[in-house]
Amino acid sequence: MIGSPRIQVEELPRSGLFFAQRMEVVGISGIREFLAKGNQIPDIIDLSIGQAHFDVPEALKQATISAVEESCGRYGSPQGAPELVAATRRHLREKCGLAADEDVMMTCGTSGAITLALMALIGPGDEVLVPDPHFVIYHDLVELAGGTPVYYRLDDRFQLDVDEIESRITGRTRLLILNSPANPTGTAFTPGELEALADLCRERRLPVLSDELYELFVYDAPHASIKHFPGCESLLVSGFSKSYGMAGWRLGWAAGPAEWIDKMRTLQLFIYVCPPTLVQKGALAAFDIDMSAMVDSYRRKRDVMYQGLVASGYQVVKPAGSFFFFPRVPWGDDLEFCEHALSEKLALLPGRCFSRRKDHFRLTFAVSDETLERGLAALAKIARRP
Ligand SMILES: Cc1ncc(COP(=O)(O)O)c(C=O)c1O
Repeated sequence: MIGSPRIQVEELPRSGLFFAQRMEVVGISGIREFLAKGNQIPDIIDLSIGQAHFDVPEALKQATISAVEESCGRYGSPQGAPELVAATRRHLREKCGLAADEDVMMTCGTSGAITLALMALIGPGDEVLVPDPHFVIYHDLVELAGGTPVYYRLDDRFQLDVDEIESRITGRTRLLILNSPANPTGTAFTPGELEALADLCRERRLPVLSDELYELFVYDAPHASIKHFPGCESLLVSGFSKSYGMAGWRLGWAAGPAEWIDKMRTLQLFIYVCPPTLVQKGALAAFDIDMSAMVDSYRRKRDVMYQGLVASGYQVVKPAGSFFFFPRVPWGDDLEFCEHALSEKLALLPGRCFSRRKDHFRLTFAVSDETLERGLAALAKIARRP
């Protein structure tokens, strides 16, 4: 039951649980519902999942095991372990020229960073610009913070249209969310696009929350960050989930304006207390691990998947980053097509989980070569309406 009770004493309900209004905003995400259906099908070809298929690198496992043996059982700092904060700062200075007066904190996954960033900045009446298509949680988290998501449409190749973004800015716009490399589209925005966006945000004094969780997975050009363009206030959020196959270990970071990080640190203390201490100890080994062979193998998987999709007649943009494709459905709408895929033992995700467009679907190539081959064969089979 949602809302507070307005009843006479004599008609007391059986349960005293009246859930807060905010629970109307969040539901089981469409993704989970669809995944649950797929999980019931034996021997399913699963191209729906959104995580790296490789195991946590051995060096990281060993460093974490040592942390267990050192009994790191006490609470940690709400900012994160100082050695890891310093290592992350170094990593970001080298990769995207983080300014000297900007701060860094560790968080409980990238989702933890996004939650704290929004809670610190957004309240009732505030509008937040969200890309369409977009990663599922942006919409719900903006609403949970009391704000209103306002979509800016990515163009037909899922690139930025700065005029479209400008047209969405009102007196109530408080933040723009950016995601590159992107889930679900695989787009990695170019330095030219990011510079034009940074110019707009600087002029309009509009802060940016830049989710760069897939920064490692870029295939055609080095990773470009909005942070390369100073003058635009941006908070970079990212983490270890995808780059090191440790999504379940829950570790991420946020880096940006010191006042913003300060507010997030206060919230972290009350909500999470601290990020997991053992995992932080282990993660100290991460920045020294060379993941380039894994990125090369994902580039090859992307190319195989792209050639296979095109050969079967799918209309698809070749992704420059992350590990997703977001093709057009060849017939019907996204739900009809993905339901049919399930009947052929192939798990995909309907585009409506990520977008107001209902004519796309998402699939991942972060799978074994064998699953990829089986997936392509199934996709070829369902490319025509049965
Ligand atoms: C774009 C994007 N941001 C954030 C997240 C959440 O990441 P984490 O597991 O680090 O919380 C995901 C997870 O799929 C994602 O795709």
